[in-house]
Amino acid sequence: MDRIRKVFEHALAAHLPGQDIVIERPKNGSLGDLTFPCFHAAKASGNSPAQVATELASQLNLALAIEGVKLIAAGPYLNLKLQPEARAGEVLGGLLSGKPYGAHEKNGQKVIVEYSSPNIAKLFTIGHLRSTMIGHNLVQVHRFLGYDVVRLNHLGDWGTQFGTLLAAYKAWAETSNPDLTHDFDWAAEIPEKRRTPLFRLFQLYVRFHDEEKENPDMREDARRWFRELEQGSVEARRLWKWFRDISLTEFQRIYDRLGVSFDTLEQGEAFYEPMLGAVLQRLSDHGLLKEGEGGAKIVDLSDVGIETPMVVQKGDGASIYASRDLAQVTYRKEAYLFDRCIYVIGGEQILHMKQIFACMEKLDPWFKGRLTHTPFGLVRLPEGKMSTRKGNVIFLEDVLDEAAERVAAIIQEKNPDLANQSAVAEMLGMGAVIFFNAMNDRIKPITFEWDRVIALDGDTGPYVQYAHARICSVLRKAGGAWPAMATPGLHDSRETAMVPFPPCDTPSDLKGLDAPEAQNLLFELAGLPSAVRVAREQLMATSIARQLLAIARSFSGFYTNCPILAADNAPEVREARLALCVATARALRQGLFLIGIEAPEEM
Ligand code: ARG
Repeated sequence: MDRIRKVFEHALAAHLPGQDIVIERPKNGSLGDLTFPCFHAAKASGNSPAQVATELASQLNLALAIEGVKLIAAGPYLNLKLQPEARAGEVLGGLLSGKPYGAHEKNGQKVIVEYSSPNIAKLFTIGHLRSTMIGHNLVQVHRFLGYDVVRLNHLGDWGTQFGTLLAAYKAWAETSNPDLTHDFDWAAEIPEKRRTPLFRLFQLYVRFHDEEKENPDMREDARRWFRELEQGSVEARRLWKWFRDISLTEFQRIYDRLGVSFDTLEQGEAFYEPMLGAVLQRLSDHGLLKEGEGGAKIVDLSDVGIETPMVVQKGDGASIYASRDLAQVTYRKEAYLFDRCIYVIGGEQILHMKQIFACMEKLDPWFKGRLTHTPFGLVRLPEGKMSTRKGNVIFLEDVLDEAAERVAAIIQEKNPDLANQSAVAEMLGMGAVIFFNAMNDRIKPITFEWDRVIALDGDTGPYVQYAHARICSVLRKAGGAWPAMATPGLHDSRETAMVPFPPCDTPSDLKGLDAPEAQNLLFELAGLPSAVRVAREQLMATSIARQLLAIARSFSGFYTNCPILAADNAPEVREARLALCVATARALRQGLFLIGIEAPEEM
């Protein structure tokens, strides 16, 4: 459809010189395949939009001259409509060619996506799912659209909280439980799988905050340990590195389950520590560094409309989150010379990111327009908000486990003979959680409810995965070369580039796809490339998730109304319908891949 879109665009541009040509997709396929709203063109010409649409239809129908394509004026819209067979040929041709459908050539632009960025010595909560998966979706979508992508994780591995951890470890673990697991007397309510060194660290952290309330002097101890760390004390550094390793081992397990990875995990907050002096110096050279309350150093941004000054150094000389972010932006320009750097960070840091961006633009106008904060809403539980400090959190790993367990129970009930049950349950469980995140608008807070995450017949990942598996089963029944056509050439991992499908020919007779249900499915398939482009514009995968649901739903209509393998089908009807099955399976697999979800062939 992209080929026809281009021809349409050129024809319009030639008739409407100097105007921005924006082509959209009509609400449904019975109206047409593409539409040009004539409101702007009408303003420019002084005629009504409907007049413009009618004129364009009569002038362009001749100019376009593509077989099977018609332009129809419908009120203020100029609709481009393909005849059923032309539509089938166009969409099947695109999906059966074997090339990723709607992918763009490399465009030479470099995009950094910074995502996940958890804090060391804490466990992933369900909130971390958002930054991790939104970021991963953006990585996939940008790659697909031809960008060079750098995947970074701004690990929270530095800061005063390490002072807290060191103090807590020294006070309550060093003598009684030095390796953080050995002989530890776990409370009975802590489940076996949770009895890890990382969880001990987390408990120590929570305990410190609890006891500090009774005994505020403890804070001084934590401050002292952070100073030691900053000044390079061997002991503090040794423990810090060990805490970091403990955390990364556990984080890796989650990243593996989610199919997410990074180009490096070495560029966390600590990485920028040696660069902080230079950052402060540069601020001072530019006359931006001011004295704040209690000896703190601040940057005043009120001249660019940001009333809250940004603190870049504490009164006691300790470094701070913001200074490490200034160093991070500075470093990334030097190391990557990026076109755009996208920060997937929660909405509660909007002011912080505004301050960072404004300050960097003052230092170096090169940054203008290159830095993007992609905020997202919180995940709420039906029970309310979470807080790590208070310890009332839902851990992401528990959610992932439960998702897989719930799916396993459904499989047991519906398809007890399925091979590789636990692997399939894992794919569906992760699919459910990941799709739930992608489907929901990025900005709005979301409430995590199991029924909305898992249901096999709702707007869920497993529903889309099920449509795919069902098609694979039809293709297996068809036999011959059919099943292999829907399977990529090599092992399909979630994370590496899309593995191409084998190229195959579009059947020459497509009359078997004239039925409205088949046409509707073709229309939705054709919508996938624009859904991917919209995902990049909106910096979230919601449009892709919705398009996949639309494809899965319209497949179900096609499957019910257009017999595929019926004995009395003419061979060319059977072939055309099987080709549409292959195309649909490919589109679903590709869309799921962009969201970070695997597509089992059986479930
Ligand atoms: N570690 C931080 C947190 O958990 C997020 C870091 C975001 N990235 C950044 N460049 N500040 O809140």
